[in-house]
Amino acid sequence: MTQTLLRGRLLTFHREPQSGDDLDAYTYLDDGAVLIADGIIRDTGPFATLWAKAPDTPVTDHRPHLMMAGFIDTHIHFPQVQVIASWGAQLLDWLNNYTFPEETRFASETHCQTMARAFFDQLTAHGTTTAVAFCSVHKTSADAFFSEATRRNMRMLGGKVLMDRNAPDALRDTPQSGYDETKALIADWHGRGRNGYVISPRFAITSSPEQMEMAQALVSENPDCHIQTHLSENRDEIAFTKELYPQARDYLDVYQSYGLLGEKTLLGHAIHLEPREIDALTETGAHPVFCPTSNLFLGSGLFDNAGLRRRGIANGIATDVGAGTSYSMLQTMNDGYKILQLQGQTLHPLQTFHWATRGNACLLGLENRIGTLDPGTEADLVILNARATEAMALRMERARNVAEELFVLQMMGDDRSIEQVYVSGAPQKTGVCRTSKNNLLTEPA
Ligand code: GUN
Ligand code: ZN
Repeated sequence: MTQTLLRGRLLTFHREPQSGDDLDAYTYLDDGAVLIADGIIRDTGPFATLWAKAPDTPVTDHRPHLMMAGFIDTHIHFPQVQVIASWGAQLLDWLNNYTFPEETRFASETHCQTMARAFFDQLTAHGTTTAVAFCSVHKTSADAFFSEATRRNMRMLGGKVLMDRNAPDALRDTPQSGYDETKALIADWHGRGRNGYVISPRFAITSSPEQMEMAQALVSENPDCHIQTHLSENRDEIAFTKELYPQARDYLDVYQSYGLLGEKTLLGHAIHLEPREIDALTETGAHPVFCPTSNLFLGSGLFDNAGLRRRGIANGIATDVGAGTSYSMLQTMNDGYKILQLQGQTLHPLQTFHWATRGNACLLGLENRIGTLDPGTEADLVILNARATEAMALRMERARNVAEELFVLQMMGDDRSIEQVYVSGAPQKTGVCRTSKNNLLTEPA
């Protein structure tokens, strides 16, 4: 068994902090260590303690940087790597003018494979170790997504979108082909390695009632798969949905009436909700996902995190690239902070960093595998440098504690702050840290 000891300042969450003073919610160690073997975290604690227990283990010294669980992005579009930063449109025009034409390119297997490599490179460069992704309508896009994730040993969730109308011909499946291909993809990938399949009707506008019935069948035949779609992102989208589904009580009722809502359901955006929809979210346990950079970019609206939380609804936080403008969960938290500020909702950085790690893991029911540095969990970590730019270093001269450091990372950080990333215990960036046998290191104080 190959063991490694990572040394650095360490932060891990045990539950969601109720406030900035909720010290029991997390562990912070100035000189901490994580012992990894075979891709799994075996022990976490003070460096001196772990080093004494395993004195022959090679040590990678990340001091003075901060070691945390890798970021989890709960809503992102793999085929939109080259859509990000497309100018001047709100949701429906943005889809029709930029996104759908771009996604037609994923009919090509070679293009899918090239873009899958680029996509996972970007995730890793930005410190994201798990994502929940929409692939394109093409089966080959999901095959490329999962085979690249498998090659890199990353814990990934995703699925081919089901869409059979209101899109270009080249981007439409049929209720039957969407069902058959999803079934085949689940058989090939779900539970293989670290992959999880997500049944993915894109949204109500692009799925006919017949396709929704097929999605319902897929959900009842595969109860351990997640489900993802979009909900109430934009006023024109909502109006069009109500025209297409006149019998539905509201937008969410489309999904509810086809049995698509439960604790494994992720609903991107969920901005303009009616009271009955909020009741239905409470009753079904389905999860809204906040996509701050996207909501600002498309001018979609302000996500009411506190209002939903008051009703006991657990929300995710995500990039939504390519309507989202950054792969960085730090930048996502930055815009998230501002959107909540506009509504008088001020989230403490400890709560925000919990959200992007253990919080998103809980949303997925994966908190026993990812999102913390707990022994027995998978060794996906990010090493954060809060002095990555001169402006950050200047600000850090006045930072008094780890919460202030987190807020500097959240407001000023991006991929430049990602010092190192570990996926299943393997470092992903080369030439950035000092590794040695610990007998060459200075003794811990
Ligand atoms: N609604 C349906 N498809 C999409 C998409 O690709 N991006 C966003 N932001 N909203 C959507
Ligand atoms: Zn989306």
